[in-house]
Amino acid sequence: MDQMQYRDGQLFCEQVNLDDLAARAGTPLYVYSRRTLIDHLDGLMQAFAAVDPLICYSIKSCGNLHILRLLAQRGAGMDVVSGGELYRAREAGVDGGRIVYAGVGKTDAEIRMALEAGIGWFNIESEAEFENIAAIARQMRRQASAALRVNPDVDARTHAKTTTGKKETKFGVDLERAHRFFERYGKDAHLHLSALHMHIGSPIYTVEPYVEAVEKALQLIADLKATGVAITALDLGGGFGADYEERQTPPYAAYADKLVPLLKPFVAQGGRLILEPGRTIVANAGVLLTRVQYIKMGGAKKFVIVDSGMNHLIRPTLYDSFHFIWPTRVTPMHQPKTRHRAMHQQGLEKCDVVGPICETGDYFARDRALPPVARGDLLAVFTAGAYGMVMASNYNAQPRPAEVLVDGAQATIIRPRETYDDLVAPERHAQPL
Ligand SMILES: Cc1ncc(COP(=O)(O)O)c(C=O)c1O
Repeated sequence: MDQMQYRDGQLFCEQVNLDDLAARAGTPLYVYSRRTLIDHLDGLMQAFAAVDPLICYSIKSCGNLHILRLLAQRGAGMDVVSGGELYRAREAGVDGGRIVYAGVGKTDAEIRMALEAGIGWFNIESEAEFENIAAIARQMRRQASAALRVNPDVDARTHAKTTTGKKETKFGVDLERAHRFFERYGKDAHLHLSALHMHIGSPIYTVEPYVEAVEKALQLIADLKATGVAITALDLGGGFGADYEERQTPPYAAYADKLVPLLKPFVAQGGRLILEPGRTIVANAGVLLTRVQYIKMGGAKKFVIVDSGMNHLIRPTLYDSFHFIWPTRVTPMHQPKTRHRAMHQQGLEKCDVVGPICETGDYFARDRALPPVARGDLLAVFTAGAYGMVMASNYNAQPRPAEVLVDGAQATIIRPRETYDDLVAPERHAQPL
């Protein structure tokens, strides 16, 4: 799962004592384990080795340059959804040809930038978008490859705000429309439409929705072949779950056992498989450390007020997400043997863990059983590496946390804590237009 382990009642990330780290680097603090990042990427690559996928790490899940560089050096390409993410990928030294570019609203400037970078595939979301990218490529006298994002109408059984593979979402075109799409645009001289893309939702905790989606994609590929259209790459998107609770996610081998046999004939005929995982690589690699500021009673309810909140990790309030939270230093009795919603230990107290932001939705957990905590204690919010720092804001003029990457016993600041000056500096001088 990850390298966040308790030893003698003290939480460590790899070999680094997290209380010592927080004392040095301050809180709130995002801490990532290099080993966990690598284990997940390598594990996914090995599980799917028989179909040799290009694993394009989804930058949107956690875009710190040091993490991108690390993953790129281990063989990952990148999945980007904006000019900003493309800029990050290039800054991290990723070759343009190993980048896929998705997203429903690519602007002309972003398209030009992607064409200049020589990206591997544009993932196309609509007819209008195809025509626009093809026209810009023509103007720029560039050639590029494109994958049509198809919507397989599969229910990924995930949160309503993160399901993407159903017909009624804004993403992609449905399977019937795909045929017309290839008929109409399949022979464009500048934008070569030769691949399919899908992404059915996130996080997905079972293999079946992928099997269903792949079967539909392979049928579409066969049908297209019968009409003379050759599909040379199939991008299955991301969405693979992470362990917010212990053993919540099937092992990579379970996905591969079902999917590799389906995909092998396509790959054997020269087809390229692409995956776009984000969360499964980085979620468990990160914890958010936050310090208890106050304990407050509200009627019978106990509030643990900490120095971080929805401004730094919005998932609990945005998606009703569960994050395991536990003090970083506990008595032997309270050392957690597992990470679960319902912890069965003596002496736990129900409380709401809330932040400093002036919103009722500013909470990390509600009615959560925790060991007794006091002002000054350090809490770890687990599985916070994905969709954590990337979604952090400066709401209430709160600086964003620092980020630290741990490698064995070595901790390195990979993004300093923002200062108040960082917040006001861009506004200090007005510029007449
Ligand atoms: C097109 C696309 N690819 C990949 C991902 C990454 O998903 P995950 O982080 O769940 O693997 C997303 C997430 O929204 C996405 O929209």
